[in-house]
Amino acid sequence: MPDTQKQIVTVGVTGASGAILAQKTLLLLEEDPCVARVHLVVTEAGQRLLTEELGITSGDLKQLPSRILGHPVAKIDVLPNKDVGAAIASGSYAVDSMVVVPCSMGTLGAIANGISDDLIARAADVMLKEGRKLVLCVRDTPVNRVHLENMLRAQQAGAVIMPAILAFYHQPKTIDDLVTQYVCRVLAQINLPQGKMHRWTGTPASKKAEA
Ligand SMILES: Cc1cc2nc3c(=O)[nH]c(=O)nc-3n(C[C@H](O)[C@H](O)[C@H](O)COP(=O)(O)O)c2cc1C
Repeated sequence: MPDTQKQIVTVGVTGASGAILAQKTLLLLEEDPCVARVHLVVTEAGQRLLTEELGITSGDLKQLPSRILGHPVAKIDVLPNKDVGAAIASGSYAVDSMVVVPCSMGTLGAIANGISDDLIARAADVMLKEGRKLVLCVRDTPVNRVHLENMLRAQQAGAVIMPAILAFYHQPKTIDDLVTQYVCRVLAQINLPQGKMHRWTGTPASKKAEA
């Protein structure tokens, strides 16, 4: 595939539980031949969650992608969340899609209300204003009215709200099976379908009835 047809994707990682979802997303994007570049932005709380949940220590920010994946990376670069002047903060820079995974209720609130005071919120704001794909993998439970209203607001502005809710219909045996299926569904939303994704084709009983 020529480089010009490959996608540029922004991944935001915030301080909601589910750092493993961010790790899997970055791994699949790094391996996907349809992806040219991944811009990674991690909030301060996101870095804390990477440490708490995956034991990934903070250190030289540039090395963070390879620490998350456990091996050198070719496509992922990391941008400081304070750098609201980065390329992805402008609609003139052609990012194809953005995923915030996991997305805290705090960052959801900022995006839903147009508060672009860090790079993740600004980059998301740009996706919405340019009519580009933005997927928010929100996570908290239970949710309060503010969370629900912010989800509705963001959805009405064009975002896809994709709560980090794992599925069981594909008979998962491991945590990796659960995580992979969820992340594949997220990547399908941004036009990067994965061969690993389980596709439901009906139960044997319903197939029989259709025949
Ligand atoms: C261990 C841990 C787990 C957390 N889990 C969640 C969560 O699932 N959802 C959420 O909205 N916030 C969660 N938080 C709180 C956020 O990290 C906090 O609100 C933070 O300010 C979010 O900032 P950010 O959106 O800039 O990352 C958690 C915090 C910690 C320390």
